[in-house]
Order: sequence, then C-alpha cells, then structure tokens
Amino acid sequence: MDKIVVLDFGSQYSHLICRRIRELSVYAELVPYDISSDELKKKEPKGIIFSGGPSSVYNSDAPLPENAIFDFELPILGICYGHQLIVNKFGGKVKQANKEYGSSLLMMDKNSKLLEGLGESIRAWMSHGDEAEEIPDEFDIIGHTSNAHAAAIANKDRTIFGIQFHPEVIHTEQGTEILKNFVLNICNAKQDWTMEGFIEKTVNELTKIDGNVLCGVSGGIDSTVAALLIHKAIGERLTGVFVDNGLLRLNESEEIDDMFMKNFSLNFHKIEAQEKFLSKLRGVLDPEDKRKIVGEEFIRVFTDFAEKNGPFKWLAQGTLYPDVIESGVSKGPASVIKSHHNVGGLPDWLNLEILEPLRELYKDEVREVAKILGVPEKLVNRHPFPGPGLSVRVIGEVTPTKLSISRKASKIIEEELWDAGLYNQVWQAFAAVGDDKAVGVVGDERKYGRIVTVRIVDSIDAMTADWTRLPHGILEKISNRITNEIEEVTWVSYVISSKPPATIEPQ
Ligand code: XMP
Repeated sequence: MDKIVVLDFGSQYSHLICRRIRELSVYAELVPYDISSDELKKKEPKGIIFSGGPSSVYNSDAPLPENAIFDFELPILGICYGHQLIVNKFGGKVKQANKEYGSSLLMMDKNSKLLEGLGESIRAWMSHGDEAEEIPDEFDIIGHTSNAHAAAIANKDRTIFGIQFHPEVIHTEQGTEILKNFVLNICNAKQDWTMEGFIEKTVNELTKIDGNVLCGVSGGIDSTVAALLIHKAIGERLTGVFVDNGLLRLNESEEIDDMFMKNFSLNFHKIEAQEKFLSKLRGVLDPEDKRKIVGEEFIRVFTDFAEKNGPFKWLAQGTLYPDVIESGVSKGPASVIKSHHNVGGLPDWLNLEILEPLRELYKDEVREVAKILGVPEKLVNRHPFPGPGLSVRVIGEVTPTKLSISRKASKIIEEELWDAGLYNQVWQAFAAVGDDKAVGVVGDERKYGRIVTVRIVDSIDAMTADWTRLPHGILEKISNRITNEIEEVTWVSYVISSKPPATIEPQ
C-alpha cells in the first residue's frame, strides 16, 4: 500500500493532515519528528510531510528531523513550522514576526505543481509567529500574502515544497486540492486505502490468531465494529460481553441487548453488574477516584467472566489511532494482531493478550467500516459516551436521584436535537447534575430543586471543542421540558466554556 508519512512537530493539526490524506484514499501515518532515517526508510513512504509545531527553528532546542531524511530524494512538503524548517535547512533565514492567526489572501506568484489549478488566489489559514525572511537560492517563491512574502516556496530542481499556511484546515480554500496535488501528482501515490480493503486485510490477519477472544462491547461504535470484524474472522471463538454497570443512558441497556440479539449472530452475554459498580461508588466524590473504581471493576467483571467461561487467550478492545499515538506506543499498522497490556491502562496481572483491530483507524473511518458491516444507522451516528459512563456526568457522589435526573434530562436534550435536525451536527450533548440547588416556584409554592447543566459541543476529534451556539428557541424548549418533566429540577444552565480550558465532560 502506498503511504505518506507525516512527521509530527507538535501541531494541533497534525492528525488532521493524516485524515485529509486518507480522505483521498491514500494511507497516511503520523510518526514522531525524531524518527530515525532507517526507521523511516523501512516504511517505504511515497512522500514526507513535516507538520507545523509550536517551536522556533532558531532556538537551540528546536526539534529537527534527522538530516539523512533530506537525502532520500523523496518529495517533501513542509507546513508552517515544517516550512520554516526547510527554509532554515537550505540556508535561508527565519525571523520572529508579528503573530498572524486567521485567514489571509494567498496570491500565486509562479506556476508550480503544488498550487496547480487553484487560480490566482485563495484564502489560506495562517497560525504562526515566525516567518521566512530570506529564501534559499535553490528555491522559488510560488505564493505570498500581505504579511508573508514567501508564504509558499518550491525547490527549483527537487520536489521539496514549503507552505506557511495550513492546507489541512477547512478554512483554507482548496486546501484539499493542495494536498491532492502533493500526494497524487507529486508523490504519485496510488489511491489504494479503502475501508473495504481495510476490512479484507484485517479479517485476513485476524483469522491467523489462535485461542478464544473476549470482547467487551459497550454498545458504542468502536467496540461493536471491533467485535464484528473479529467475528467475521473467527466466528464462534469470539464472545462479546456487555456489562450493565448502572451508569448507562436511559434504556441503553435494553437497546444494546436488543441490537446485538436482533442484528448480529455472535456469541453475546450481558452481565448485570449495576449493584457491584454502584456500591463501590457509594460515598466517593473525587472524579479520578470514580474513574479508577469503574475501570477496575470492569476488569474484575471481565476476568470473573473469563475464568468461569474460558479459556480465553485474548481481550479485544476498540482502541483507535489517535489513542495509540497519544499513548506513545504506536507500532504502526502491522500491530493489528498483538500489542501489550496496559496500553489502555490495564493492570499487569491481567492474564490476557490484547487485540486492537481498529488501532489504525480514525473515528470517521470506523463509521464507514460500520456502515459496510451493516451496523444500524442510529448506532453509527450515536454520540460518543465515556467509558466511566454517567459517573463522570454526575458531579460529586453518584446517587440514584442524580443518575435518574441526568438520564431523563439527557434524553430530552437528544430528542430536541433530533427534532431540530441538529443531532448529527453536534459532537456530544448531555446533561450533568451535581448537588447544587436553586429555589424555584411552582404554582404558588416555593420549591428548592436541583440545577441541571446542559453541555452541547462541536468538535472534530474531542481534543478541542467549542460550545454549540444553539438557537435560543431550542435552548428554551430544552429548558422548559427539563423543568416541566423532571420533578426535582428548578434551574437549567448552559455551559459556555470551550475545551481548552474546560473539558467536555464535567468530571
Ligand atoms: P474530555 O472530558 O476529556 O473528553 O474533554 C474527551 C472525549 O473523551 C470522552 N471521554 C472518555 N471516553 N473513557 C472513554 O472511553 C473515559 O474515561 C473518557 N473520559 C472522557 C468524552 O466523552 C469526550 O468525547
């Protein structure tokens, strides 16, 4: 499979570069900037991209790629910091400039394969503090903005390019065309990364494993798709286990049971463990303690099940590519079969090998795989739900009353978003509830009730998020329904904090 390798210099957009390239059906992989040239060579890339990053090339501790990488004679595209790296490496000069953040008009100066077919100008997204002041002799300036006279450069003889702006963000007009020019026309990469191909390859690899597999299914899309792929490969040797921990959304337990029983023919077990989890959480206030307790209890329930119903050799998880990269244990696509314990924070004593068939995929790719495998549309598009469930949406101690309020209010929010045709436009939408109370008035009576906090966010990958500017009419409906339909509630608030500095979940 043809591949583009993106060296990650720490930009918040690094993953986005990979995703955009994969949207062109070309496989792209994110690797640390200090990857050795030998390692990089082994990957046999068709081209290399240097991502942006927060550093300055003139600082003594600036992150630099290994020099030998420039001698590979492979096409290179530097983006933002990557652009400055190229200028610096070939003897140009980068200086500190006024910070430029936002959209600028990029004017084309010279024909180039990189900017071919874009017309005379495009709006380009800038996010930088340094700029290229002097361009090395062997480069031409192919585009400029009013602030950056060398916003795009091309080597005169070799296929090395630098651009100060970010083609990977949607605010850059025709940004995908630029990446397409680089990947398809300059690197000549074949468009052979498809989800049909991924399914075939993965199922094929999974058929080679021996022993039985236990797969925790949460009802979320990742674990469902992981289970279905493994089932396709090894059939009866897979057992899917769903744990009702008492921290699920309204009616979720029944819906998941129903979905697996009706739609899929795999071995499926539901474990009723509500009391186990809820009793362990009694009296616990600290968010991290709650997470730890839920995580440990999951493992206990799984190992109990495995001991009684085994033998099992493998525990399958729906780990995705960004988690693999973030946990710093990226081993690349070849590691579909095996990785080590505690990748997902599992204890050392867990006597099962870990199987992570989705570790190469981004969320949108998992959704595509799900569609191909016939997962019902409603599940494919369901908002992400955290592993510790409602224990992180109930602030303070987890009590039956707070769980019930959070469930009912979240259901109302979801219904109103569906009704307004907005459910699929937002990343997550739910209600959090704590112990704070506020005075209300019902009829002529004073009522001292709970405060419900509505959280609705837009995001592309949950790394950053913005609060959704929902029309006031919809907020009003949500608020009215919550106070009318949930007896214990007097106030409804809406969170207007983005991530960062907030997080999406309250705990
Ligand atoms: P935060 O609250 O950190 O959440 O902004 C980012 C995204 O991750 C989800 N989330 C979790 N998912 N286990 C999970 O599987 C967890 O412990 C967990 N905590 C948060 C959250 O819903 C959001 O989509």
